[in-house]
Amino acid sequence: EKGGYDHFMLKEIYEQPNAISDTFRGRMRVDEGIIKMAGVDDNLTKLLNAKRIVIVACGTSWHAGLVAEYIFEELVRLPVEVEYASEFRYRNPVIHQDDVIIAISQSGETADTMAAIKLAKEKGAFVFGVCNVVGSSISRETHAGAYTHAGPEIGVASTKAFTTQITVLALIALKLAESKGTIPKSDFHYYLQELERIPEKVKISLQSAAHVKSIAETYKEAKNFLYLGRGFNFPVALEGALKLKEISYIHAEGYPAAEMKHGPIALIDEQMPVVVIATKKGHYDKIVSNIQEIKSRQGKIIAVVTEGDVTVKELADHVIEIPETEEFLTPLLTTIPLQILSYYIAVMLGKNVDQPRNLAKSVTVE
Ligand code: M6R
Repeated sequence: EKGGYDHFMLKEIYEQPNAISDTFRGRMRVDEGIIKMAGVDDNLTKLLNAKRIVIVACGTSWHAGLVAEYIFEELVRLPVEVEYASEFRYRNPVIHQDDVIIAISQSGETADTMAAIKLAKEKGAFVFGVCNVVGSSISRETHAGAYTHAGPEIGVASTKAFTTQITVLALIALKLAESKGTIPKSDFHYYLQELERIPEKVKISLQSAAHVKSIAETYKEAKNFLYLGRGFNFPVALEGALKLKEISYIHAEGYPAAEMKHGPIALIDEQMPVVVIATKKGHYDKIVSNIQEIKSRQGKIIAVVTEGDVTVKELADHVIEIPETEEFLTPLLTTIPLQILSYYIAVMLGKNVDQPRNLAKSVTVE
């Protein structure tokens, strides 16, 4: 059932190229330059007239929501707020009838997300669901939705659900951007082609596994980890840290790289591994100076870079290369080595990777 892999998590990490293809198959027609998604097409006016999008989710799904915030704002020029469902539901939030709520949930059973949806519906908002489990409670409670089609995710640590959630949300953003005219037609076509190339590039990113495993060996005894990223890859830093915490029980924090100097920089010494996402287009120069700040404090730098990188390579202790892609799609690639890193550290520490202590696959209690 684990298809020859030692753990479901590893199997699911390797399933990502296919899972992402399955997510856009039948929806994205690159040659014709169209995106067809029933849940979006049937409610296009509502979505196009939205004054604001509010995303509600928990955990990894909340991280996918944060990536979507950057994508929607960039492509659709719509204000987006991303809320922890648990906070949203208890806060008497301001919701207007022309708000669109997007609820993201792998399991479709998360209690807090469900409660947030019910609240938003009471206030008259249109609620769109992004779920993986077909027929789940959340998929039934929402007005419309789009499934991720990632296939069953068994490992408690979410992997392919995250990348397919980002894929669905990117498809929706592209579709709305094209309909609204917030991106030029030529860019739209180019982005579809780039998205189509992602599964192949995920495959290439997976080839760094042996190298990432050796990095895991070097740092498996560390007591703390810091993860840094900017822009589209700030949420990936949060996700990388969450993966490590969940399955290896090592304390890890994710931060926007520039926030480092407002506090976390005090933690950096020769004991502290710092994972930095430093892809070419994403504020590269700024990230390079953040890396220099870490280096001058003897922090150990593990950098995820675009293939062919020269500058970061000279500064970092370890670099992991990923193929180049359009900036808003980089989270689909930068996430991969971070999943693998946490996986191998947990395995080397003898932890229960698929069923970490204290955690359940779906959190149906608040
Ligand atoms: O099923 P959901 O996407 O609603 O679950 C939300 C979180 O409980 C979930 O993402 C959790 O954080 C995972 N264990 C992360 O790996």
